[in-house]
Amino acid sequence: MIPIQQNPHYQAIGGEQGIRALVQRFYRLMDSLPETREIRAMHADLGVAEEKLVAFLSGWMGGPPLYAQKFGPPRLRARHMPFPIDERARDQWMYCMDRAMQEEGLDSGLREQLHAAFLRVANSMRNQGEAAQHAHHHPHPH
Ligand code: HEM
Repeated sequence: MIPIQQNPHYQAIGGEQGIRALVQRFYRLMDSLPETREIRAMHADLGVAEEKLVAFLSGWMGGPPLYAQKFGPPRLRARHMPFPIDERARDQWMYCMDRAMQEEGLDSGLREQLHAAFLRVANSMRNQGEAAQHAHHHPHPH
């Protein structure tokens, strides 16, 4: 997980309001884009997902650690284990987030930094496929 101090974007994005607007747009896109229906199908209630992602991003971006306060330690990789996340799922998630950041009008410098930070987390969530095995150093004889 990226230490909070290295991702001090809370003010730049407009605090909790800005985060909520981004997350609402993110899930609305996920809910409507045909090309991301595989990850949409993994989610149950998008309202619950919205609350949790807003709470997580608040702390992750250097604001109040709402997720830890409400739900305990994030342990995101463990919490994603029930879902088969491969490169394709990661790309669908990143596509929704990149598009949400663009549509919310975040400036391009902020978008670039957040893209890189989101990508690191999204990569670490992979638990299926070739890249997931390499990422976790399982031997892979040729
Ligand atoms: C890599 C692709 C990803 C996929 C396919 C994915 C999918 C999911 C799914 C299916 C859930 C459960 C929703 C439900 O219970 O209905 C979830 C929860 C969550 N995701 Fe992701 N996710 C991904 C990446 C990320 C990333 C990059 C972040 C953070 C930057 C994130 C943050 C969260 C949070 C905070 C929750 C709520 C955890 C909980 O309390 O249960 N996810 N995700």
